[in-house]
Amino acid sequence: MTDRDLVDRAIEMKARAYAPYSGFSVGAALLCEDGAVFTGCNVENAAYGCCICGEQTAIVKAVSEGRRNFRAIAIAGSSDGPCLPCGVCRQILSEFATDDLPVLCANATGDFQAYTLGELLAHAFRLNT
Ligand code: THU
Repeated sequence: MTDRDLVDRAIEMKARAYAPYSGFSVGAALLCEDGAVFTGCNVENAAYGCCICGEQTAIVKAVSEGRRNFRAIAIAGSSDGPCLPCGVCRQILSEFATDDLPVLCANATGDFQAYTLGELLAHAFRLNT
């Protein structure tokens, strides 16, 4: 699976987003060490604090299906610039990934920029490291 393939999976997931409040659809695709891909979208709620990010959906799906080792994540948003993960999602990713995890961030037209998790969350809080 190429970076482009993973980003395309994230873009596909934008169609599943439930985002009636922000109008900002996000799709995510998480590539696991064994080659499996788990996808997710943002799921909003009238109680705004309950909104779930697309990355969180994908990570929880993967972990709950027994995967904890990841090769890359792609995130696709509806912005002109690349859709970067929020601070909470960066922290949740850091629980299961090392600083070298590629984070592929796509904009509304599908162009993407590659970062590493370490670039996006420097000096992450982890227990026992
Ligand atoms: N959102 C995500 O799904 N991922 C992020 O990393 C940033 C924000 C969602 C949450 C909310 O549904 C909408 O985008 C606007 O903030």
